[in-house]
Amino acid sequence: MPTSAPILNKHVERVLVSQQQIADRVKEMADEITANHPDPSEPLVILCVLNGSVVFLADLIRHLPIRMLLGVIGASSYSGKSTVSKGPSIWHRMHSPVDMKDKHVLIVDDILDSGNTLRLVRQTVEEQNPKSVATTVLLRKPDKAPQDVEAEYIGFDIEDAFVVGYGLDYAGEFRNLPHIAVLKPECYADDVGE
Ligand code: IMP
Ligand code: MG
Repeated sequence: MPTSAPILNKHVERVLVSQQQIADRVKEMADEITANHPDPSEPLVILCVLNGSVVFLADLIRHLPIRMLLGVIGASSYSGKSTVSKGPSIWHRMHSPVDMKDKHVLIVDDILDSGNTLRLVRQTVEEQNPKSVATTVLLRKPDKAPQDVEAEYIGFDIEDAFVVGYGLDYAGEFRNLPHIAVLKPECYADDVGE
């Protein structure tokens, strides 16, 4: 954690994945995605699940030396100061210039937790009749992730803890931490668990 960020740092209990570990793994994942691109003569449609995956997306795409188009979709399961999922909903379907019909699509999300969000996003994509769909997540909580929701590219398996940083938030904050961290218990004290 940069010493220039004491205001954020004081809330962190422990770092689960360091900035360097993330950087190394994101490069490896990009290499795998590049190697597995079904048809390099066609652009890969990269669909960013807002908001949590924007940091991951920004790093990932700069390691992809392939033709690509970018789309975004908004989905969320948590609201306010809750660390308990309320079930996902799509809140933003951008009228993207990216048509997914007959395209190869890669969904980029931050974390595979209960899997409900990715199930819904994948279903939304499949309704558009893409040629292929794959998913990448930076994190997975394997103790919770259901069998029926697949992610072809997974950065790190982590314990079942509510984490922040590198795009992931608690109550809208901490997305700008450069690593994946668990906050001190008192930070979640206002959690109403709704
Ligand atoms: P789901 O439970 O797999 O549907 O997760 C849905 C979304 O909730 C993820 O894409 C994240 O944006 C968010 N989420 C899940 N677990 C965490 C966490 O530990 N910290 C922050 N956000 C999370
Ligand atoms: Mg998300």
